[in-house]
Amino acid sequence: MNSIINDIEIIKTKTSKINEVDFDNLKFGSVFSDHMLECNFKDGKWQAPKVLPYQPIVLDPSAKIFHYGQSIFEGMKAYKDVDENVWLFRPLDNFKRLNISAKRLAIPELPENYFMDGLKALLEVDQEWIPKKDGSSLYIRPFVFASGNGFHASPADEYKFIICTAPSGAYFAGEVRVLIEEKYSRSANGGVGFAKAGGNYAGQFYPTQLAIDKGYQQVIWTDDNTHEYIEEAGAMNIFIRINDTLITGPTSDRILDGITRKSIIELAKKEGINVEVRKITVSEVVEAAKNGSLKEMFGAGTAAVISPIAGFGYKDADYELPKLDETYASFLKKRITDIQTNKAEDIFGWRYQV
Ligand code: PLP
Ligand code: COI
Repeated sequence: MNSIINDIEIIKTKTSKINEVDFDNLKFGSVFSDHMLECNFKDGKWQAPKVLPYQPIVLDPSAKIFHYGQSIFEGMKAYKDVDENVWLFRPLDNFKRLNISAKRLAIPELPENYFMDGLKALLEVDQEWIPKKDGSSLYIRPFVFASGNGFHASPADEYKFIICTAPSGAYFAGEVRVLIEEKYSRSANGGVGFAKAGGNYAGQFYPTQLAIDKGYQQVIWTDDNTHEYIEEAGAMNIFIRINDTLITGPTSDRILDGITRKSIIELAKKEGINVEVRKITVSEVVEAAKNGSLKEMFGAGTAAVISPIAGFGYKDADYELPKLDETYASFLKKRITDIQTNKAEDIFGWRYQV
């Protein structure tokens, strides 16, 4: 595929905000880098991407995003190694998933070089924004939404693809306790659960707030039909260790096919850990918690990396996870972050130099 990188227009900001940022105390996704990539779909095709100063977007009140929620996104990270080389982790998988989401939401798919060259151009302009500190990275948020106008309930004729970035620290500030959901559902068969559609997250906020009010940080979603099977967390896939076996549910049209999840499955197998990808029932997990065979639960995702779960609630009872000295979670987290940050050999070919 021909590169378009030389054709990307770059308009730089005259007033960088970088000196206002405390890179030693970064929260997740709350300060934004100086520039953004913008690419418009109109007249039936994607127009050339541009790098612009980070700025508000002007839209008509009748833009379809506001009414019909045609909106998808991705989550990625850029890492800087000790020699200031910049790395991405499996970026083509994010590109492919963005187009899977686009198709499901009737949004025009993006050409690969617009995504990849646009991203590289943006990272080059904002490379000083990529944190060097361990545990920090530049969180990258590519997104596409309907900017075309009209109250007719049908796909828009214009869209915007934007990438903006945020130097970020950890997603969770402290211990993570989860509530296994018995009533609400995140997704259903035939729905959009496998897509990274904005509406999937909006629909989680209310039940998640109910869980937060009860002292948990996240909901563990169960299948919409029976609420008997563990599916995933709000922004992470979920892994459960019973004795020495690591279990995660199979992907389906209800579950996001997480890039961290599939990397952990491969890494764990390579390290000789027994991994099972199979349906897992809530009663199996509760039973394992009661008989002591439940050793670990952790969430896995780009933003959250690997987040150990300290305990879970289910049907008005609370279950504590044991505090082990050596966990699969910390072992696998170190293995994956060492690959991401160029501290370890990457036998899988996942790292991508910018
Ligand atoms: N599940 C959901 C609902 C998510 O939002 C995410 C985050 O992207 C994940 C799982 C993990 O996916 P990935 O590892 O590709 O970031
Ligand atoms: C990510 O892990 O990148 C996500 O998209 C999760 C997000 C909802 C914070």
